[in-house]
Amino acid sequence: MREIITSDDVQRHISTSDSDFEVSPEAVITDVAKEEAERLGVVIVRAEEPRSRDDEQEMFSAVRIIDLARGGSEAPLAAPAVRRSSPFSDDEHRRWRSEFPGLENSVHLANCSQGAQSYEVSQAIDEYMQNWLSEGMDWNYWVEKVSEAKAEFARFVGADDDDVAVVGSVSEAISSVASGIDYEADRHKILLTEAEFPTVGHVWLAHRKYGAEVDFVPLRDGEIHLEDYDRLADESTFMVSATHVYYQNGYKQDLKAVADVVHSNGAYLLVDGYQSCGAVDIDVKEQDIDVFTTGNLKYLLGVPGIAFVYVKPELVSELRPAETGWFAQQNPFAFDVKNLDYADTARRLEGGTPPVTAAFAATAGMRLLREVGMQRIEQHIDFLSEYAIRGAEDRGLQVASPGDIAKKGPTTAIEIPGDSQEVEYALKRQNIVTSARGNVIRVAPHFFNTPAEIDVALDALARILERR
Ligand SMILES: Cc1ncc(COP(=O)(O)O)c(C=O)c1O
Repeated sequence: MREIITSDDVQRHISTSDSDFEVSPEAVITDVAKEEAERLGVVIVRAEEPRSRDDEQEMFSAVRIIDLARGGSEAPLAAPAVRRSSPFSDDEHRRWRSEFPGLENSVHLANCSQGAQSYEVSQAIDEYMQNWLSEGMDWNYWVEKVSEAKAEFARFVGADDDDVAVVGSVSEAISSVASGIDYEADRHKILLTEAEFPTVGHVWLAHRKYGAEVDFVPLRDGEIHLEDYDRLADESTFMVSATHVYYQNGYKQDLKAVADVVHSNGAYLLVDGYQSCGAVDIDVKEQDIDVFTTGNLKYLLGVPGIAFVYVKPELVSELRPAETGWFAQQNPFAFDVKNLDYADTARRLEGGTPPVTAAFAATAGMRLLREVGMQRIEQHIDFLSEYAIRGAEDRGLQVASPGDIAKKGPTTAIEIPGDSQEVEYALKRQNIVTSARGNVIRVAPHFFNTPAEIDVALDALARILERR
């Protein structure tokens, strides 16, 4: 476990020693500890990291990262090589970065897989643990906190509170919707894309046993084309299930345009926003989306175990989910075992006991993003996307993502000959956290990342590939 240096540690050190306070190379030093050290005149130094291998270049990037996190000369956001710019001033950006203690020691570019840990989210989980400890059991408060998380999500995507349900994962959200459809009706076809995360395919395919007909919109050159939706949707199509951003290469669809085509064919549109929500501004009403689902552990900065699903009220009343439970009932506390009485609202998509701990974290993560401002976050990420694509091309790396920033989400995918997982591990040994998927390494920044961090990652990647 990583050592955390607090102001108490600083005080303890000065009471026993007048030499520098040496901490482990990986230690996280809280801002309060730094202030205390400055006030007391204590110098905190990191011990030399034992070199597991004689590789000066790897050490170079680790040192450079720590310099970046301290606001070193390479941290400023100015990047003359690209057309876009960041909406944040250097000072403001540094302030936001200080909300994420892990950024002092690593370059976190794996937000497509897991967002970075913030003090807010960590404190929110502590709050739950403390409440549990002091109260023993506090269900009324915990259920209230779950409702607060739903309301926060509703606000985040421009929905009404009653149109949002909370579940444990995106798979569960889509299963609940899928299990509520009447496949004996004329419209019993589900059209999904080849860009879906596999779990989405698995859920829909499992519903073939109830009569669902499943068809796929093809991926062509890493993209989905609007005319293919139009070609494959017909009078038997009940729903189109489409990812907003393709998890593999970051390709982003124009949701309003997809919605128009889907609706013109008389079908509903379900969107999996796991690779976009928190990085791309979403408004379910403006974009005319019928069902929108996402989990919280990636760009929403939360933890595993919770996901939300927005469902348009007209559709909710059509669904009779077989994947259900007591929290989906009109009155979950009626305790009537012989009566299935779905809630009128999107809550009918819920199941059993809600994910309380993860809900505490989810609210904190989404609030932080709202405080920063989703439009500015999207603008900063677009800037880093352009920077990453330009930087990869300059280093001779093969980019698998669309070159047009308007057609891409936060992920920039770099093609890797051979085992991409091995490359992910090699980067991780240099404190650079990225995510391998298939034949690519995904460099997936968030609003707290800097262009200098993209440089560090791309330099390291180019060196690793050169040596292979
Ligand atoms: C686009 C997308 N959808 C769905 C999932 C899986 O969601 P869950 O595990 O919550 O079912 C992922 C996971 O990485 C994803 O990237």
